[in-house]
Order: sequence, then C-alpha cells, then structure tokens
Amino acid sequence: MKRYHGRVVAITGAAQGLGLAMATRFAAEGATVALADVNEQALTHAAGTLTDAHDTKHRTDVVDVTDSAQVNAWIDGVTDALGRLDVLVNNAGIIRDNRVEDITDDDWHAVIDVSLTGGFHCARAAFGPMKRQGYGRIVSFSSMSWRGNFGQTNYVAAKAGIVGMTRTLALEGARHGITANAIAPGLIETPMLASMNGPARDKLTNKIPMRHTGRPEDIAEAAAFLASEAAGYITGIVLDVDGGISIGSSIR
Ligand SMILES: NC(=O)c1ccc[n+]([C@@H]2O[C@H](COP(=O)([O-])OP(=O)(O)OC[C@H]3O[C@@H](n4cnc5c(N)ncnc54)[C@H](O)[C@@H]3O)[C@@H](O)[C@H]2O)c1
Repeated sequence: MKRYHGRVVAITGAAQGLGLAMATRFAAEGATVALADVNEQALTHAAGTLTDAHDTKHRTDVVDVTDSAQVNAWIDGVTDALGRLDVLVNNAGIIRDNRVEDITDDDWHAVIDVSLTGGFHCARAAFGPMKRQGYGRIVSFSSMSWRGNFGQTNYVAAKAGIVGMTRTLALEGARHGITANAIAPGLIETPMLASMNGPARDKLTNKIPMRHTGRPEDIAEAAAFLASEAAGYITGIVLDVDGGISIGSSIR
C-alpha cells in the first residue's frame, strides 16, 4: 500500500520548481494532488507531466494566494470535490532582491504578500476542514535566508515570518491532530535559482559544505516525510535541507 493512498494533498506554486517536484512525489506515493498556481500556462503544462507520469488523480486550479477569496474558494472546491484535505503545502514564493534603500514599496509588498500572507490565507482556510477531520499536516516554505541575508530584506522578513507562523499554527493545531512544520531549503536548482544573478549564485554555491546545489527531489523527500502520518509527533520545527550551508563556516 502506498503511504499517501486516500490522502488529499494541496500545494501552492505547484506549476514548476519545488512545487511540481513535490506534486510529482506525492502523486507517486498515491496521493490525490490539488495543484494551485497563478500561472495558468505553466499549470496546464505541469498537469500534463503528472498525467504522463502517474496513473493517479489530480486537479489544477488557477489561484493567486495573495487573494483570500480565491484561496477560500480553492480550499472549499478541493474539500467539496475530494471529500477531505490532509496536507497543505505552502510553497508559493517570489523574490525581488535589492539593497534595503532600493527596495520599492511594490517590491516589499509583493514578496510579503505572496510568501507570507499567501501562506496565512491558505493555512487559515485549511484549518477548518483539518480540525473537522482531526487530522492535518501543514508544511510551509521558509528559506535558509530566514536568519538574515544581504539584499533580501523583504524575502527574509517573509521567510522569518513563516517560521513564527508555523510555530503558532503548531500550537493551535496540536490538540486537533494538525502538525505544522517549515522547510528551509538552501540553494536548489529551480527556475527561481536560475533567476539569481550568476556571480551571486556562484559565491553562494562555494559556501555549501557539500559543494553542490540541491535538487528539487531533495526537498520533495523532506516534504513527503514531514507531511506523512508517521511524522505525527513532529511539529513546529524548521527543517534545513541545504547541504550544510546553514551550519555557518565552511572554511577548509
Ligand atoms: N529554489 C531555491 O533555491 C529555494 C531556496 C529557498 C527557499 N525556496 C522557496 O521554495 C519555494 C518554491 O521555490 P521555487 O524555487 O520552486 O520557485 P519558482 O519560482 O520556481 O516557483 C514558484 C511558483 O510559485 C508560483 N507563484 C508565484 N506567485 C504566486 C501567487 N501569487 N499565487 C500562486 N502561485 C504563485 C509561480 O508561478 C511558480 O510556479 C518558494 O517559497 C521559495 O521562496 C526556494
């Protein structure tokens, strides 16, 4: 029996990168996956790759996580159509990097709205159905940057916010069978990383003790564990999946 058989897993930002890798992994483990993304074209393409790879059920919804009405309609639609909601993966996130004096109001709000407020919208919507089931797993995406990172005031604030939100969701969910955990990826090969400028990326890669970037599958592995029934006594943690970069010094 596949461990996610009968489980419904909802993932935001699922059209590419880590979101799609996780959708693929959960589907391979028997879950019915609800993929949400703001990018309709990429979402259609993602659904195609899932259909080709797996004989399993999935649905796609165009959802902008910054819009709470769209999020509520998505979660209602998923629970109505699929009967339950076992796992929420708050994965959607964007970067708009700059030094603090050069971050515009738009760049501040865009990053906070997608990466933090979007996660809140989804968690709030998911809590009701999860409480009614007496079971739920919420996995939200922080970043190795949450401890602070040059040129990322907006992103760091959002990703540190995810840590605080996760720890509080963990407290409120514990008596209802709901766990909440965060994943803090290091440098993982996705379109987001590709959008980082080359020299900055190379400098960071050189600081990874394992000397190489991660694969989306490395993150999917961590998410599939944290969201599993077996991880039921783990809540409120931040799991670093980063080749050791968050340890600190990598002077050799
Ligand atoms: N790739 C890395 O190295 C890395 C490192 C640390 C943290 N992360 C985090 O992991 C998550 C996934 O990153 P990724 O590298 O796969 O990014 P990505 O840019 O490849 O994919 C992000 C997805 O989110 C979607 N999205 C953007 N705005 C949205 C919105 N308003 N509503 C719904 N969907 C929206 C995009 O369309 C895209 O499909 C993000 O939260 C990111 O901050 C990534």
